[in-house]
Amino acid sequence: MSPRVVRTVAGARRLRREAREAGRRVAFVPTMGALHEGHLALVRRARALGDEVWVSIFVNPTQFGPGEDYDRYPRDLEGDTRLLEREGVATVFAPAEREMYPEPPAVTVGFGGLEDVLCGASRPGHFAGVGLVVLKLFHIVEPDVAVFGQKDAQQAVLIRRLVADLDLPVRIEVAPTVREGDGLAMSSRNRYLGPEERAAAPALYRALQAGRRAVASGETGPAAVEAAMRAVLAAEPRLGVEYAACVDPRSLQPPAGIAGPVLLAVAARLGGARLIDNVLASPDGVHPETLSDLDRAGGFR
Ligand code: PAJ
Repeated sequence: MSPRVVRTVAGARRLRREAREAGRRVAFVPTMGALHEGHLALVRRARALGDEVWVSIFVNPTQFGPGEDYDRYPRDLEGDTRLLEREGVATVFAPAEREMYPEPPAVTVGFGGLEDVLCGASRPGHFAGVGLVVLKLFHIVEPDVAVFGQKDAQQAVLIRRLVADLDLPVRIEVAPTVREGDGLAMSSRNRYLGPEERAAAPALYRALQAGRRAVASGETGPAAVEAAMRAVLAAEPRLGVEYAACVDPRSLQPPAGIAGPVLLAVAARLGGARLIDNVLASPDGVHPETLSDLDRAGGFR
């Protein structure tokens, strides 16, 4: 059955009320569309966690900076809806920009500095925009559970803080990063890559694996782990490295010494694209796949 496509906040609220009255738990996957297997894996995870799956498709202008790719970001609602039909999605919420932002928002969402490190350092305002739109989407959809990807680890960390600090009644689940055969993390932005850039892109994942090896072999200094990742990235001259970081998975700051799981994260420009990737790494060599796995293993005690 085709998903119901709703374009208004009022329409979404109506359907949500029906689901609640029928006692159906809603599992929600927020996206910006141009869906790929990474998104679909989140949808499948959501299906296991709720009675019906809702997906939002909204290219959120408040999270793009000046000169970023808001205008050229790929948009294909029809194609996306066809993919979601195959996954048994109940509802697609695809509002127009003026429906979400009838006037420029006055309220801002801050994260006490967590939004200024890693990707935030080069994308000022980005995570404030993400926080705002996710908070709005949560208030419109009122999901029981929402699924995010480990691919955007900093985003997942911030959303978890949003939910915890504001006591939002939603469970956040973080699902593993889906990769191409050569390790490149799937991304709507990979389609910006030309053939030679595409061939260079797996260096990001290779760098993360080198970082994992350093951590598992007993390296306790975050700077040394970062150097191991940078050495791999430096071998690929097309990459304009933005950061290669070894940080605590909660504070996103480098740990004084690596004694438990750390987040290894890289970002680089490659042609017209900006690529990010990350893994968790553990000194005992048993690397958790996601922030949720780390929780379940007691890593956030
Ligand atoms: P978007 O980039 O479309 O991603 C939507 C969700 O898919 C995010 O939770 C992201 O982490 C996840 N995702 C993307 N690529 C993935 C991959 N290869 N493997 C696993 N998960 C992947 O992230 C956003 O949109 C926006 O910031 C949003 C949260 C929708 C707010 O506008």
